[in-house]
Amino acid sequence: MSRIAYVAGRYVPHLQAAVHIEDRGYQFSDGVYEVVAVKGGHLVDEEPHLARLARSLGELRITPPMGEAALKIVMRETIRRNGVDNGIVYLQITRGAAPRDHGFPKAAKPVLVVTARRTRPPNPSLARDGISVITIPDIRWQRCDIKAVGLLPNVLGKQRAREAGAYEAWQVDREGRVTEGTSTNAWIVTAAGEVVTRAADHAILNGITRCAVLAIIRSEGYEFVERAFTVAEARSAREAFLTSTTSNLLPVVRIDGEPVADGKPGPLSGKLLAAYLTHASAA
Ligand code: PDD
Repeated sequence: MSRIAYVAGRYVPHLQAAVHIEDRGYQFSDGVYEVVAVKGGHLVDEEPHLARLARSLGELRITPPMGEAALKIVMRETIRRNGVDNGIVYLQITRGAAPRDHGFPKAAKPVLVVTARRTRPPNPSLARDGISVITIPDIRWQRCDIKAVGLLPNVLGKQRAREAGAYEAWQVDREGRVTEGTSTNAWIVTAAGEVVTRAADHAILNGITRCAVLAIIRSEGYEFVERAFTVAEARSAREAFLTSTTSNLLPVVRIDGEPVADGKPGPLSGKLLAAYLTHASAA
């Protein structure tokens, strides 16, 4: 099946899909995006993803190019045309095309692009054996809560992780506290059994998977607190893990080459992953 993309009002063959060279997303990263998982033909946590998209647009004062009901139709049609049963939908909205000038253009029309593709679930060995992360300085801007398309520090960080043979890079703020991964949220379980993840301030993206896992933690009655933790704390944690739409929940067993606890995935990570997968297949 050849791929089809939705670009500014039209469904077009993926290979011919294009936006204008003066699109502000291309020139200024002036746009926002979402990645939504498709599992068994349905969209996982569609409502919170759309709510976060609306929030990101509002923070950048970009007018939504269409209403939510229409956007849901476009997402479904893009999924259908690409035959995606399990995979992801990518939505991007930029402020539109206009002669290059930093200030907002008066006349530009926001441009919506939607793509969908099949993906394999994370390799089961990752959840079974755990993954490693490295730590790097967080060099991003001060509004990481906005899901903006400007991802250069994230790109460089992920590449550093790959070159180090790690799955992810945990970014660390000036106070030595972990903010989040380059495309995932960061968690630990302390020696006392308390689950810790950074509060959803401006230093992190409030992950939809993060929110779903927090809801599970609350409903199961596990001890938890939303606060920043240091790299040293993470190194001496009982368990560590990360979450995201595409990774689900993966146990972190090494940080900068040093094992977390006994270097094996912990029991709580396993339970939370199972509960999250149940949520994702039902949501
Ligand atoms: N990444 N933090 C950052 C910086 C992210 O880019 C993401 C998502 C997350 C996790 O958010 P969620 O649980 O809503 O996926 C945290 C997406 C998947 C991406 O850029 O591909």
